[in-house]
Amino acid sequence: MVKSRLITQTAFSLWAHLHWNLFSRIQLKADCNTGGLRPLFLTLQQWFLRSSLQQTRMCCSKPVSLHSNKGSRVDTFKTQIATGPKFRDFVKESSNKKTRAITNDLICNDKHAYLPEDSEIGNSRTVCFETYGCQMNVNDTEIAWSILQKKGYQRTSDVAEADVVLLVTCSIREKAEQTIWNRLRQLTAIKKKRSKTRAPMKIGVLGCMAERLKTELLEREKLVDVLAGPDAYRDLPRLLSVAGGGQQASNVLLSLEETYADVMPVHRSLHRHGAFVSIMRGCDNMCSYCVVPFTRGRERSRPVASVLEEVRVLSEQGVKEVTLLGQNVNSYRDTSERLFCGPEPSQLSRGFRTVYRARPGGLRFADLLDRVSLVDPEMRIRFTSPHPKDFPDEVLQLIAERDNVCKQIHLPAQSAGGERQEARVSLSSDFIAGFCGETEEDHLETLSLIREVRYNVGFLFAYSMRNKTHAFHRLQDDVPAELKQRRLEELIGVFREEAAKVNAALVGSTQLVLVEGESKRSDQDLYGRNDGNVKVIFPRREGSGHNTDMPTDADAAPINPGDYVLVKITSANSQSLRGHALCHTSLRDRAILLSDHCYDGRLASPSQCQA
Ligand code: 5AD
Repeated sequence: MVKSRLITQTAFSLWAHLHWNLFSRIQLKADCNTGGLRPLFLTLQQWFLRSSLQQTRMCCSKPVSLHSNKGSRVDTFKTQIATGPKFRDFVKESSNKKTRAITNDLICNDKHAYLPEDSEIGNSRTVCFETYGCQMNVNDTEIAWSILQKKGYQRTSDVAEADVVLLVTCSIREKAEQTIWNRLRQLTAIKKKRSKTRAPMKIGVLGCMAERLKTELLEREKLVDVLAGPDAYRDLPRLLSVAGGGQQASNVLLSLEETYADVMPVHRSLHRHGAFVSIMRGCDNMCSYCVVPFTRGRERSRPVASVLEEVRVLSEQGVKEVTLLGQNVNSYRDTSERLFCGPEPSQLSRGFRTVYRARPGGLRFADLLDRVSLVDPEMRIRFTSPHPKDFPDEVLQLIAERDNVCKQIHLPAQSAGGERQEARVSLSSDFIAGFCGETEEDHLETLSLIREVRYNVGFLFAYSMRNKTHAFHRLQDDVPAELKQRRLEELIGVFREEAAKVNAALVGSTQLVLVEGESKRSDQDLYGRNDGNVKVIFPRREGSGHNTDMPTDADAAPINPGDYVLVKITSANSQSLRGHALCHTSLRDRAILLSDHCYDGRLASPSQCQA
């Protein structure tokens, strides 16, 4: 109720009210550490949506229980939690690993003593990175490259030219690993064919797969020369040097502290005006299906000061969009400078339980987002991924208040709609088809959820059992592969239908778009993304014949990547929007335009509005 009053007083926009209402009233009887697809995310989504559709009130005194919807399943899940592996098992395992890894490391160090002094120097050797998997891997590539660049390595995107090929790998699903195995075999064939007059090519596996499959990679398959786990990139120059001497070299130690805070990543991915900034590493959530805590280790946050410094440098370099990355950004804690700050907000959204032990005090994600968004008001800020269990109101408040914090949440929530689409939050989500024990009825519920919520963007996968996870130990991967595939295809079909409808609702609206570059399909078109992260394509040059009632400066001033432009949307499909550019704009101008109510669905150019 206190929160309700606070929200009323601060006059949140409608979407913020809804989200607060949804988060704070969750009475979920499942433990989020199990993370099981259905007990947590799906049930939560169902509840989010249905409760919000049914309710017109902003606040309700009666907690709503999900238990009634899915009673026995949730109970089953609770039992599984009680008997599942504990976090200490994981810690115990990692310390065992540590001993083994240290032993390996000592052997390597021993050899190191006989390496020439400058052996870690790249000497202009060329390195080719291939990045697979998530955005975190894109950022890891930038960190690893930053470390090697300092040592004098050159970068190439051509394997034929490379002295060293490094694969930044993903273990999240079996298929992701299969892709890497295939690539390793191809690379080994290339290596064998290489002329004897050249130094032999070295192949390295970095990241999650190095961590998960060290023995197989080094011993059984013998396809790699270098292995570096996600916390061992600083050691790459030494590992490459050992490999240069003809031995295999590996460091898969997981760290409790490593955040690469002092390594300025060399951003060259995304479009030139966008960058991923990692704010934390590892994960403690221990979701039942997920291998990440085992491959990326314990959760740790990078100090606020180092994140701000990186964002400042990016702003100076002309970067216009930063995505803050973490496995669960809501559990961000920087205790490096300040142990305590203000009253502690409630640790969990109501209704959630978790084995995750939140660290008290320090600076939280809302503090970080606040400061990051102030660095450059013309730089858009996104973040991924938050978890509903600890989604703080302060973050919603910042999304509502700050013009440069995108109104987009990668989280199950409720659908937008109505006339001023751009004033509401866009939703995206992840779905897994065929999780352990999934019945046809469960699957139909997932379909109905996707229909009702109407996500803008979705990531859909067939479940893939991963070793070491809770599900691996306690549940049965009992949905046959063909059935998983069929269900996945159905999910994708319904998702596309609904996304097409959400996007169609934007036809006629004017979207603020950050231009990313030339469209892949036609050099006559440019593309960018709107605030909700939906792709918007528009012709590079506007003809003068249409929409004469709308002022346009698109002919007058060329549109370049990194520009903000207003685009009038004329058509849509499930993947993207199409339109024509009206004029250049800025985040500030756009905000003034909206706050002054100059916008009437047609274009009022920012300059007209201010006049
Ligand atoms: N099988 C299939 N999908 C998975 N994900 C995570 N683990 C698995 C798994 N074992 C998906 C989840 C997660 C996304 C990053 O990958 O949807 O949100």
